[in-house]
Amino acid sequence: RQGAAAAFRGAGIFRAKGCACPGRARRACSKTFIFRMHRTHHCAQLTPSALGETVSLLGWVDSIRDHGGILFIDLRDRKGITQVKFDPQVNAALGAQAAQLKPESVIGVTGKVVPRPEGTVNASLPTGAIEIDATALTIHNLSDTPPFPLDDAGGDKVNEDLRLTYRYLDLRRPKMRKNLQVRHRVSKSIRDYFDAQEFIEVETPALFKSTPEGAREYLVPSRIHPGQFYALSQSPQQFKQILMVAGVERYFQIARCFRDEDLRSDRQMEFTQVDVEASFVDREDIYALFEGMLKKVWHDVLGVDLPTPFPRLPYVEAMNRYGVDKPDVRFGLELVDLTDTFKQSGFKVFQSTATSGGAVKAINAKGLADLTQGEIKALEEIAKSLGAKGLAYIKVEGGEWKSPIVKFFSETEKAELTAKLGIAEGDAVFFAAAPWEKACAILGRIRLEAAVLLQKRGKLTIRPDDWKFLWVIEFPLMTHDEAENRYVATHHPFTAPVPEDVALLESDPKKVRGQHYDVVLNGMELGGGSIRIHQPALQKKVFEEVLKIPADVVESRFGYMLKAFTYGAPPHGGIAFGLDRMVALLCGTTSIRDVIAFPKTQKGQDLMAQSPTPVTAKQLKELHIQTVIPE
Ligand code: AMO
Ligand code: AMP
Repeated sequence: RQGAAAAFRGAGIFRAKGCACPGRARRACSKTFIFRMHRTHHCAQLTPSALGETVSLLGWVDSIRDHGGILFIDLRDRKGITQVKFDPQVNAALGAQAAQLKPESVIGVTGKVVPRPEGTVNASLPTGAIEIDATALTIHNLSDTPPFPLDDAGGDKVNEDLRLTYRYLDLRRPKMRKNLQVRHRVSKSIRDYFDAQEFIEVETPALFKSTPEGAREYLVPSRIHPGQFYALSQSPQQFKQILMVAGVERYFQIARCFRDEDLRSDRQMEFTQVDVEASFVDREDIYALFEGMLKKVWHDVLGVDLPTPFPRLPYVEAMNRYGVDKPDVRFGLELVDLTDTFKQSGFKVFQSTATSGGAVKAINAKGLADLTQGEIKALEEIAKSLGAKGLAYIKVEGGEWKSPIVKFFSETEKAELTAKLGIAEGDAVFFAAAPWEKACAILGRIRLEAAVLLQKRGKLTIRPDDWKFLWVIEFPLMTHDEAENRYVATHHPFTAPVPEDVALLESDPKKVRGQHYDVVLNGMELGGGSIRIHQPALQKKVFEEVLKIPADVVESRFGYMLKAFTYGAPPHGGIAFGLDRMVALLCGTTSIRDVIAFPKTQKGQDLMAQSPTPVTAKQLKELHIQTVIPE
């Protein structure tokens, strides 16, 4: 440290051991570097044990209160707040200097630690029993009046675009400062965990090549190779597999990924993955490894002891019970299958769906019979946006089933409904009749909406700190793409089939389950991964015979990988976690924009630095690019 200190001193930035700081500050110096423009303490440090000491503080003016000419300033730094008093009766020049200050100005203050007068102690602040009687003031910079209040409550009320335009001010708010700190803690905890497990962090390129199999990519034109492009890496997937062939065995990376997707509260075009790959592992190893990581993070950040192992839910069961592959299992309202009940029904919509291979499903939103017409209409619109033909319902009020469709139901059907759904006074039941996956998806969404309505009425409580982790497993390896009439990889084409199902690859691809797993927490997909194909012949077969990618395209896109696999590829598997999503949940926010220092808006813009922007004709020429702007 001495050497480093000398180097920093040379650069004129730091001062270390042996500097001329008074008293306490010198002791601080012997432990850490302190900045030459030094303070003796930070703004959350001084308590009555320091009474009588002369101290120096640096920071921002959080607020100014004028009590009959005496100015009380709350001085804020990254740690907290200390109250400083300027009394013009005692020092007129100093008082006049302080009178120029405006909130958010940057100052340095020297003064004596004194007790606050009786009755003015603030028990909610660590420094609430003392104040600083200022004897000197340095004004480093006056501030203009900020365009919005920088306290949590005030800042939460302003438009997010304004916050993003002045992100440097938004980040001064206590909540945002805390979010950045939590993010740092999470990264540190993860790095420590993998380091202890003998994983090494390896950086992989952001400039990769275009592999249009996954999400839409960002292309980067090559200046040196006219007409050719790099693509920004969507994930380090291929490189991490190559690192396994390279014998690294245990790799991780906190990696930046780029995807040109529509932005949402849980999606950014540029986001961070905790990316991991290991050799000689099976699914059980990965489950245990990641339960360990999450346990450590939750312990380090929140002091919460997560119970492990996490429950596992096969994909088909997740869809049947919750209508989604990332279920929020903190509450019930599970889907019930009624396909058999309606096979002979007089209600033709249900009967024809039930007898033609589709599914009829329902949920009982217990206690929601007081739904308004407006709420029913809104639910129906949501169902229709997911492709539903309608959203049949029953409300049970005054002992009566109120519904546009019950008149078509037989007594037997009604009895079966009552038994299967546990229908009682005050309930509201919703139905979907559609192909299986669509029926599940519609009611899965209605289930979430019903939960919101029940919460509003105080009839359901869902706690954000009720951490219900689970693994969703046994996804189908392939999904049939109706539009293109071919199979596409459900996750990505490198996922290995479940060994028992390999034989079905040619005969019935949709029946093949993949060795894929997702970690889901409270309705959010936190991470996903798989055991990979490591045999070149099987990988080639999946590309060419199942996914029907022409051989020459396979060769140009993935040839290097297939070749690498012929030189001793170990069995391997891995996973990637959305770091932004994990931190958002830990911070109790629903938007990942709140845990990213400089996020893009929903429209993909950086409102502060103002991007994207046009570039000059010269730049375009150099890159051999012409643009055609749509009218
Ligand atoms: P996948 O595409 O499922 O897997 O991504 C893994 C995790 O990354 C997070 N994530 C996102 N977070 C914010 N914004 C986005 N646009 C975004 N897209 C994804 C999610 C998701 O669970 N290479 C594979 C992993 C593997 O097989 O090992 C992959 O990228 O939390
Ligand atoms: P209809 O006979 O088309 O007037 O529909 C009667 C009721 O059933 C209406 O409330 C529709 O919203 C609803 N409905 C129609 N088709 C479906 C379907 N496929 N699934 C669920 N409800 C439906």
